Amino acid sequence: MVARFFLLIPIFQLFMIVSGSFHSKFLRTDVFEELEMCKSIQYNLPIWKNTTLSLIDCGRRCFDDGDCRRFMFDKETKQCTMYESGKDCITDEDKNRKICFRLLSVCTDVKCTRCPIGYYDDQCQHIIQDCSDGYQKSVAPLKGILSFIQPKVNGAVLEVVCTFKKTGGVTDISRRDVRCKEIDFNKTWNEYSTGFGNANGNYWLGLENIFNILQNHNRFKLTVGLMFNGFDKQLWCYYDDFNISSADYNYAISLGKLPACGSGNSLTKVNFSINDRPFSTYDRDFSNNDCPVRFNSGWWYLDDPVCSRANVNGRRPEVGVPFEATWHWWDNLRTRTQFDTICLRIRRF
Ligand SMILES: *[C@@H]1O[C@H](CO)[C@@H](O)[C@H](O)[C@H]1NC(C)=O
Ligand SMILES: *[C@@H]1O[C@H](CO)[C@@H](O)[C@H](O)[C@H]1NC(C)=O
Ligand SMILES: *[C@@H]1O[C@H](CO)[C@@H](O)[C@H](O)[C@H]1NC(C)=O
Ligand SMILES: *[C@@H]1O[C@H](CO)[C@@H](O)[C@H](O)[C@H]1NC(C)=O
Repeated sequence: MVARFFLLIPIFQLFMIVSGSFHSKFLRTDVFEELEMCKSIQYNLPIWKNTTLSLIDCGRRCFDDGDCRRFMFDKETKQCTMYESGKDCITDEDKNRKICFRLLSVCTDVKCTRCPIGYYDDQCQHIIQDCSDGYQKSVAPLKGILSFIQPKVNGAVLEVVCTFKKTGGVTDISRRDVRCKEIDFNKTWNEYSTGFGNANGNYWLGLENIFNILQNHNRFKLTVGLMFNGFDKQLWCYYDDFNISSADYNYAISLGKLPACGSGNSLTKVNFSINDRPFSTYDRDFSNNDCPVRFNSGWWYLDDPVCSRANVNGRRPEVGVPFEATWHWWDNLRTRTQFDTICLRIRRF
């Protein structure tokens, strides 16, 4: 029988469990209200769920389960839900009933045995720079999972969707998924620069963060993923040599000219290539054609009335929203505006 101590300091913000020679820490995080379907996405699925006696009992079970890195407790029903990764919790019920904690570490005095996904080394003291880096360091199983990354030394720690597979690790820099709440992508320069949204649902990682990731390696590839027909149909477009310039140069984009696309090439087609274009938002518009307002989004718009042949940051279709403001991918898909998911992913190569 091992001794167990539970400490809550201050009330419910930090949760510590000591058992035998192991000590662990959990940190209180936020709960967001989301659509019910959003919980069905792979990285939002629980690894264990049951009623427990108390919040402390729920924490103890997470401590005992070698895969648990986050848990949510319902104060009313006492339901305890455990997850393999992630920072914050989402619910389609009253969020005030829910309490979310994430793991900081499980360690002995010598070595940590469990770190949050993305953290590594004996004291969980290092963080991967992006998901390709995470693949090389084997920080997670091969699948879609939430991970922490730190693209810049001593910079912000961010949470992203990583896909680890046999061929490497891919970082989602933007995710739109109709299973989760729509968030407005009609945002300011400052918001597009720092990022917005939530890793469990829809988000834009932020141009400054993307820039920092790209600084860490000499070649990156950009993948645009488009899913529709109830996730049945997936089209991918792979662009070699994705890069953006610094904020001083308005995050101008460069992309390989000859992508491999199941969908058509809506980004670098002759006469409509966004190569070398600065980023534009409604409050800092380099398009000279009011493109961020017309397309309802920030993007590397052309200095041309066409604006762009793709609008991946546009709005979901809705009565009264003109086609150009709605998310679309002109080449191959033309006037299609019904998508399930649109994501932008980057990987080292
Ligand atoms: C869930 O909890 C109930 C009651 O506390 C218990 O009987 C059952 O065995 C638990 N199920 C699992 C899978 O742990
Ligand atoms: C975009 O946001 C700005 C600022 O909130 C607002 O003035 C503008 O009307 C919005 N555009 C659309 C099309 O909603
Ligand atoms: C990407 O752009 C940055 C900023 O302009 C530059 O410093 C870097 O060398 C570029 N990377 C590659 C691989 O061209
Ligand atoms: C591109 O524009 C030039 C003239 O500006 C035109 O001659 C050419 O046909 C255009 N190419 C395509 C593919 O539209």
